[in-house]
Amino acid sequence: MIPPLPSKRSAIAPFLAMDVLSETRALERQGRHIVHMELGEPGAPAPLAVREAAARALSQGVIGYAEALGRPALRQRIARHYGEAYGVDVSAERVIVTTGSSGAFLLAFLAGFDPGARIAMTAPGYPAYANILASLGLEPALIEVGPETGYSPTAALLEAAHRAKRLDGALLASPANPTGAMIPSDEFKNICAFCEEAGILFVSDEIYHGLSYERPCETALAHSRNAVVVNSFSKYYAMTGWRLGWLVAPEPLVRPMERLQQSLAISAPTLAQIAAPFAFEAKAELEAVKAGYARSRALLLERLPRLGLADFAPPDGAFYIYADISRFAADSAALAKRMLEEAGVAATPGVDFDRTRGARMLRFSYAGQESDVMLGLDRLAAWLGAPEA
Ligand SMILES: Cc1ncc(COP(=O)(O)O)c(C=O)c1O
Repeated sequence: MIPPLPSKRSAIAPFLAMDVLSETRALERQGRHIVHMELGEPGAPAPLAVREAAARALSQGVIGYAEALGRPALRQRIARHYGEAYGVDVSAERVIVTTGSSGAFLLAFLAGFDPGARIAMTAPGYPAYANILASLGLEPALIEVGPETGYSPTAALLEAAHRAKRLDGALLASPANPTGAMIPSDEFKNICAFCEEAGILFVSDEIYHGLSYERPCETALAHSRNAVVVNSFSKYYAMTGWRLGWLVAPEPLVRPMERLQQSLAISAPTLAQIAAPFAFEAKAELEAVKAGYARSRALLLERLPRLGLADFAPPDGAFYIYADISRFAADSAALAKRMLEEAGVAATPGVDFDRTRGARMLRFSYAGQESDVMLGLDRLAAWLGAPEA
């Protein structure tokens, strides 16, 4: 028998951050201590009330399937969140609970686009976007962003790309991964308006909302009736492994997404859905976690330039600093490898996020404990031979 051949659609790029993680784990098994600045994962646990609610539900017995669109109590609580956080009225009917925002992307792309559709996204950008699109037979249309626009896309850039070759969708995040950059408020409105006018489905990835340090985050729902908004409990709510996210869909896409969800996932994890409403009541605890990120960020902004790493994207939000390391090495993947082996500090090479220009960039995450960020900086200073070491 001929051995099974992998499909062409599965020939997607590896997620290098995960490869770095395997290397760090191997070093840790040999007894090395590694400072993890490669992971976009909160060092804090889920809020206490969430963990307690899950423990109560577990002790009570059966955890069954949930409704495909999500448990009504959670959908209503998410809808209420839009009123509280942004002053925007959202009906619970439009909220769909998913398996992380990753599960939301699947529903959004399948319900919103036919095979061959072209979806604009930025380079640098979150690597899974292009991989998910490609595996579904959709075409990522990369829009390069850099210092000229503060590493953010603009309506003019989208318009130029659309004129060059028709776009069907745009998938953008603000704050963004890997840069932390936020799209300025006026530009965000322009992008929403341009997508509406041009009939481009705007998928707004709002997963880093709540994690901004200079100004509040804005939801696309405030400016567009037709945008699909994706969000998650993974980042601000520190619940990565609970695998819970949501989307707010325009009404015509809700029933198609429900049908897709019924067959693709049946429902998002029920235990996580039972516990998640409590996350919205844990503001004090989550703001304390965020205050820790803010202190780590301040430390990095003060000390990285003294180490010779002064050139980075505007770190407006999320928990990343995307820094130009080209004065130290031509290839950030090789530098990251040496930094891991020799200094015991892990960071993610830029090629993960930008295949053409990422070799000069490294992403440092400050999602972990503050003491780790401090230790990481001390180790880098010693390793780079910086005067403050
Ligand atoms: C921009 C962005 N979107 C989506 C995700 C996926 O998150 P999850 O599936 O845990 O909600 C991530 C994870 O790092 C991300 O950085």
